[in-house]
Amino acid sequence: MGMHIRPRRNRKSPAVRSLVQETSLSASDFIYPLFLHDKEVDEQIESMPGCVRWSLTGLIKEAGEAYALGVPAVVLFPAIDESLKTSDAAECHNDAGLVPRAVRALKDAYPGLCVITDVALDPYNSDGHDGLVEKDANGELEIVNDETVAVLCEQALCHARAGVDIVSPSDMMDGRVAAIRDALDASGFEKVSILSYSAKYASAYYGPFRGALESAPKAGDKKTYQMDPANIREAIREIELDEAEGADMIMVKPAGPYLDVIAKVSDHTTLPVAAYQVSGEYLMIKAASKDGWVNEKAIALESLMGIKRAGASMILTYYAKLAAEWLKDA
Ligand code: PBG
Repeated sequence: MGMHIRPRRNRKSPAVRSLVQETSLSASDFIYPLFLHDKEVDEQIESMPGCVRWSLTGLIKEAGEAYALGVPAVVLFPAIDESLKTSDAAECHNDAGLVPRAVRALKDAYPGLCVITDVALDPYNSDGHDGLVEKDANGELEIVNDETVAVLCEQALCHARAGVDIVSPSDMMDGRVAAIRDALDASGFEKVSILSYSAKYASAYYGPFRGALESAPKAGDKKTYQMDPANIREAIREIELDEAEGADMIMVKPAGPYLDVIAKVSDHTTLPVAAYQVSGEYLMIKAASKDGWVNEKAIALESLMGIKRAGASMILTYYAKLAAEWLKDA
């Protein structure tokens, strides 16, 4: 009796392999996170080799190059001058601020590019937290929820007035999706979408990002609002809430160490699922490939394919532009 079943037949040539491939990766899956600052020069980011704090001019050029390679969307992260950071984070809803100016410039230059903004207070907050900070009766720091949500609504409206396509609350306050949806709709911005960071974990993988923006918390950590890395059922709870509150898309973050969460969440929801390959994930690949220990291109593309296979339909990745180039050559 010979062996009837030989799975290798489905791997025998590139043509057959391409027919049976279950997951595909393309530039159109990517959202490109871009850092910007209010300076005339572009600055390499020390804590994130290969990433740049762009001037407005540099930002437009970089976004345009990624867009031309087929990357449909960018998400903006501003490095705000220390002198503009306050405990009420008021700069986050200044119509003449850095982000609204960048949104207007990007939409002017490339009307078809999807421009996404991060909604959270940490870049603007002198305390470095995603929400407003108060001291409770025992002198403990408290990140106050409802007062923060009111400011997040102002921030979302400010981005909407500038012409943003999608606002993306990354703050993990309770009830912010519904509040932002209400605020947008009440001002005639019902076409502005909400991509909610629904399952955002309190992760050490964000370290290099906070270095890039000098936005690390001045005191305390983010564990009273971001999720415990040990939990997955709680991710479902967060997703169900955001879905009910009117989110258009939801996100799991980080991505690589949380593939099980991406898989479970994408089984559970009919909303599109985004996953964020965060700064620490990016940096581990960068560091390991710097001296040739691993092949950067192969490892980066495999990590992105893994995230896609787990169930993400879009991936926020610092590799977006480079990966789009690699995929074009492949
Ligand atoms: C802040 C925010 C963070 C990231 C995106 N938005 C950092 C944090 O929550 O402390 C992290 C992204 C990355 O590490 O690449 N609202």
